[in-house]
Amino acid sequence: MGRLLYDESNLPEINSLKALNYDEVDKSTVQPVKRVGVLTSGGDAPGMNAAIRAVVRAGINAGFEMYGVTRGYHGLWKGEIKQLDGRSVSETLQRGGTFLMTARSQTFMTDQGVLKGARMMEAYELDALIVIGGDGSYKGARALARIGMPVIGVPGTIDNDIASTEYTIGYDTAMNTAMQCIDKLRDTASSHERCSVIEVMGRHAGWIALNVGIATGAESILIPEVPYDFNRDVLRVILDGRNTGKKHYIVIVAEGVGHAEEIAKQIEEATGIEARPTILGHLQRGGSPTLRDRTMASLMGIKAIDCLMEKRFNRLVVRQHGEITDVDIEEGLAMTKTITPEIIENAKRLG
Ligand code: F6P
Repeated sequence: MGRLLYDESNLPEINSLKALNYDEVDKSTVQPVKRVGVLTSGGDAPGMNAAIRAVVRAGINAGFEMYGVTRGYHGLWKGEIKQLDGRSVSETLQRGGTFLMTARSQTFMTDQGVLKGARMMEAYELDALIVIGGDGSYKGARALARIGMPVIGVPGTIDNDIASTEYTIGYDTAMNTAMQCIDKLRDTASSHERCSVIEVMGRHAGWIALNVGIATGAESILIPEVPYDFNRDVLRVILDGRNTGKKHYIVIVAEGVGHAEEIAKQIEEATGIEARPTILGHLQRGGSPTLRDRTMASLMGIKAIDCLMEKRFNRLVVRQHGEITDVDIEEGLAMTKTITPEIIENAKRLG
């Protein structure tokens, strides 16, 4: 049913196009879905397997044939596509990572690459593609939708930085992993009366840093969304603590702000307090998903299939006001996510 609207000879700049909003289409003119592809793309996130499982099981229950695409969009344009049955997703719910594997495809970032992916969807007669990933992956899905290939997005990223949704799959597990690591670092920082500077993930987003900082009682939390002043926000906070008897300090840095090593050096030089850097890095992306991520992934996967059953394509599955629902892909990607002043204020009040 994917109706590729262009070929190499007449492909306009995909950025100048708009994906069809199926809520504005007479559904009696739309063919029902038969064959559905699913892929994971971008950085892996705990719970992606649970989302694939939900999509595959609910899809089969809806009467669809389900196809797994390996290595994200890279595997799509290369035709790494095979049918999945209900059993093929057994024993995946509790596993971290993504058994379909993932990639950040350079080819797919070009219009010609997107066209190649769409051609492969046609070759495999995929009526729709479910994309589990973050913002970058959603842009790939939107590009496919803009040239006529129906897609559904399911939010999967530890960063929780997708504007249309309050929650992304993997976020809870990543925060819990970071929190547990920081609790351990606190033990040693307190034994040695040190400052522990911990770099958490989030190149462009401070959600992990902010919430983990609140949960671990950090002295300072540095996030990309809020410019910081070293003297006011780090140095004086640490020294004020020391001058009132504090013996150890936790500083959390989102990776987008700076490097833990440099900040630790700066702290040590300026205060004389021993400061040690730790980069949590990809530890935060691995591990068995928490209950929250497993249930969110399962419910969001089911919602993706609901959209296909209702012939409502080009949608993003989202959580809004606590409910799992869906939004138009163009509208969803046009939104911007900001960290609210309230949460920043709350973090400050605890510091
Ligand atoms: O988007 C998820 C994320 O883990 C970010 O927090 C981080 O900046 C980035 O991916 C790291 O990506 P890579 O897999 O290339 O190390």
